Amino acid sequence: MEPAAPQDPRIAVVTGAGSGIGRAVALELLAAGWSVALAGRRVEALEETASLASARGGATLCVRTDVARPDDVAALFAAVRERFGRLDLLFNNAGTFGPGGVPVEELPYDAWRHVVDTNLNGAFLCAQAAFRQMKEQEPRGGRIINNGSISAHAPRPHSVAYTATKHALTGLTKSLSLDGRPYRIAVGQIDIGNAATDMTARMQSGILQANGELASEPVMDVADVARTVRHMAELPLEANVQFATVLATNMPYVGRG
Ligand SMILES: NC(=O)c1ccc[n+]([C@@H]2O[C@H](COP(=O)([O-])OP(=O)(O)OC[C@H]3O[C@@H](n4cnc5c(N)ncnc54)[C@H](OP(=O)(O)O)[C@@H]3O)[C@@H](O)[C@H]2O)c1
Repeated sequence: MEPAAPQDPRIAVVTGAGSGIGRAVALELLAAGWSVALAGRRVEALEETASLASARGGATLCVRTDVARPDDVAALFAAVRERFGRLDLLFNNAGTFGPGGVPVEELPYDAWRHVVDTNLNGAFLCAQAAFRQMKEQEPRGGRIINNGSISAHAPRPHSVAYTATKHALTGLTKSLSLDGRPYRIAVGQIDIGNAATDMTARMQSGILQANGELASEPVMDVADVARTVRHMAELPLEANVQFATVLATNMPYVGRG
């Protein structure tokens, strides 16, 4: 059977598009001709991403969105429907590490809740809205890529909220992947280790290891993550990268460090 031709222009939502991995993925997709809705809490950061896109690339739409707020998420996907009429890809990327270095017994409940609301509840809300749109539209279907982490597999010290939410994202990915089958909705996950962004600035200055020592860790270029996400995004819907692990080659993880 011939794979279905991708829609042109293809429409994506990227959350957390004002910095780091989200910005790099948005720019990679725009350069490839996708139209991209840029979502995040800081509109000026989203507008900066839009201004970095090549004039020959796809269209942008900046939507101020706190992914932890159901009304914001509903408004984001309504704006995408209104402007572009359909949705081919959600890159569920917005996330926070939360307060680093706080032992579990000292972590305030509000801090736990903030990480869960952002990383897990936000990803659920965006995936649910994307799912509804992709199920309804003609031609039917689309793709969701969740941004997990190496922390979806193994924790760093004092990272209980981040690690718990990233493990939970793996369950979200698997459930959505199964539930999406009847509707041509493909769902996959990218698990990244040490891409150089604001969130990983501490990796280079020294971060707590499991043996109690501080050590600087290798990082990789976000552009390499962006190319991987684009590859996942541009597969025909009949094919899916279920899980991809992309990490700085020499970071501590494989081989017990
Ligand atoms: N860098 C890595 O090596 C690495 C490794 C594994 C996983 N990840 C994951 O990659 C994703 C992006 O991280 P990054 O490294 O690119 O760090 P980053 O530059 O800090 O990006 C995080 C983005 O999420 C957005 N965000 C945070 N809370 C939000 C909310 N409530 N609503 C909407 N947007 C929100 C932020 O924008 P606003 O502040 O404007 O809202 C920001 O653009 C995260 O999910 C992270 O867990 C990164």
